[in-house]
Amino acid sequence: MVKLTYHGHSCFEITDGQHNLIIDPFITGNPFAKVKAGDVHPNYVIVTHGHGDHWGDTEQLAKSNHATVISNFELGDYAARQGCTNHSLHIGGKANFPFGWVKLTIAHHGSTLPDEISYGGNPAGILLNIGGKTIYHAGDTGLFLDMKLIGEMNAIDLALLPIGDNYTMGPVDAAKAVEFLRPRQVVPMHYNTFPPIKQDPNDFAKLVRAQGIECTVMSSGDTLKL
Ligand code: NI
Ligand code: MN
Repeated sequence: MVKLTYHGHSCFEITDGQHNLIIDPFITGNPFAKVKAGDVHPNYVIVTHGHGDHWGDTEQLAKSNHATVISNFELGDYAARQGCTNHSLHIGGKANFPFGWVKLTIAHHGSTLPDEISYGGNPAGILLNIGGKTIYHAGDTGLFLDMKLIGEMNAIDLALLPIGDNYTMGPVDAAKAVEFLRPRQVVPMHYNTFPPIKQDPNDFAKLVRAQGIECTVMSSGDTLKL
């Protein structure tokens, strides 16, 4: 069984009971996080792009848990320079891990290194297989038609989609993304953390349910079993 725990914004912990993964570990400074960075113990830290609200506590978590950072090449190189163990991938590339596999997808957004100045490589979305379940974490992105291809080539059990608007897709575009991806279940993310991304996730949930697809609005600390 795969268990997913939400920590607010775009941060999710995922475990198959044996391997612990965390995606976009923005815990310190995240107004919704109910845990401290020292409370989570990942084996893998997966990062979609270098913006502070996604890179977050990556360095500390990787070092204190001897966890491997999985990210694009530029961020992976940065992580290695800070003394972290890393496995770098790039868009379209997939690699096997003891828990399953990870593939990077495109994401239309920006990316800097955590210094907020240096080039951070292309931002990415994450396709992840763990415990036989396929999860798509879109990262920060606008809507793109290639989501249709992602949905066609993968039976997605769970899609984690940004709905905050302003920096990423808003609810209407994210509902269109659901139409393209045809996942079994959807969880909205990247909303209400900051004033410019204020949304009512239930409005989005209605748009998803109207397509006959399950949508679960998670609060920070909630868990979901797949
Ligand atoms: Ni971003
Ligand atoms: Mn963001």
